[in-house]
Amino acid sequence: MRYEKINKQLFTDNRKRLIKLLKPASLVVVNANDIMPTNADGTLRFRQNSDLFYLTGVDQEETILVLCPDYPDKKFREVLFLRETNEIIATWEGHKLTKEEAREQTGIETILWLSEFKRLFHTMMVMGGVEHVYLNTNEHYRADVIVESRDARFIRWCKEKYPLHHYERLAPLMARLRAIKSKPEIELMQKACDITGKGFRRVLEFVKPGVKEYEIEAELAHEFLRHGSRGFAYEPIIASGANSCVLHYIDNSATCRAGDVLLLDVGAEYANYNADLTRTIPVNGKFTKRQREVYNAVLRVQREAFSMLRPGTEYFKYHREVQKVMEAELLKLKLLDKTDIKNQDPDKPACMKYFMHGTGHHLGLDVHDTGNMFDKIKEGMVWTVEPGIYIKEEGLGIRLENNVVVTKNGLHDLMRNIPIEAEEIEDLMNSR
Ligand code: GLY
Ligand code: MN
Ligand code: MN
Repeated sequence: MRYEKINKQLFTDNRKRLIKLLKPASLVVVNANDIMPTNADGTLRFRQNSDLFYLTGVDQEETILVLCPDYPDKKFREVLFLRETNEIIATWEGHKLTKEEAREQTGIETILWLSEFKRLFHTMMVMGGVEHVYLNTNEHYRADVIVESRDARFIRWCKEKYPLHHYERLAPLMARLRAIKSKPEIELMQKACDITGKGFRRVLEFVKPGVKEYEIEAELAHEFLRHGSRGFAYEPIIASGANSCVLHYIDNSATCRAGDVLLLDVGAEYANYNADLTRTIPVNGKFTKRQREVYNAVLRVQREAFSMLRPGTEYFKYHREVQKVMEAELLKLKLLDKTDIKNQDPDKPACMKYFMHGTGHHLGLDVHDTGNMFDKIKEGMVWTVEPGIYIKEEGLGIRLENNVVVTKNGLHDLMRNIPIEAEEIEDLMNSR
């Protein structure tokens, strides 16, 4: 593992929290992710199922967690099944978790090999007093699930073999739990943000007219990896000039030109937790008057948004309020006029011509983390705050994005140490 060992108490507490939400006579199964194929015999790097990681801290393929809190034999109320290693696996893939290591990492006492799964699972299902079986589906509101996961295959198998149990959705419970971050989780996210900040500072020293966007990507990757990150939390957006108006530009192949801005939407992963930063900088180290005007407008919107993000806020109302602040800025910038506002469709406000995305999202083990967007915002949630103005006709896109923890005394900005003022960015770019 590249990251420092995480205290197993985090995972023990997470399981306890989940167990409290279950109906009596319940059983929970959570499967690891598959190692995703590419072409021929190629695969992507393994990425653990976020729910399984949240409940166990295990970063290994083919793992299965079973929770059965009312099982008569205490020993089997929490069981983790692991892929059993052998000499061939050790030769080709290297070390796999031993039972002892898994116990130490997860806080689960009963660790068994996968070969023992079906027999024990059968006993639990038919003799363990189990009525409700919670299985895991990807119910993310933005997900378009077309690939069958291990969990999905398990659901098919389980429902066919045990058709008369009551099946329950685990996803809403996990979303509720994962939306509120505990102290150790916030520390891990702080680490992801700090590594991201180091990457950004390196970029400030590196960028100058003539560099390719992918050279900047390489600088970031270097800085992330040397600090124990596995790399980018999501495909990095390194967008100079007109590319800054393409919201999901990931080609990163253009040359940065003097007079253009460079929009960087990049985050490091750390211990499966994510940062999600956006900064926009001048390629030649000095914003033009127009760029600075638009920049400061976005910065003011972000600060207003910060002040509205409180326990009890409702996301969609908050977003509408942020749109109104943006509307006022767009009027000042003369990008909109009074008639645009007067004639606007309330379902598609005029500001959406220049600010066409949401103000933020939950952040955590997933970049667009789980959590019900209709729920009130609560203490302990981590949100991104990411207003932007994209003026296609000028080839000028500016977005600023910070990651903040909602607390009862206001926001705790995990990116408070990452430069954001236009002057500070210019100073850093010119002091190299
Ligand atoms: N980087 C993805 C986002 O900002 O939502
Ligand atoms: Mn982002
Ligand atoms: Mn974001």
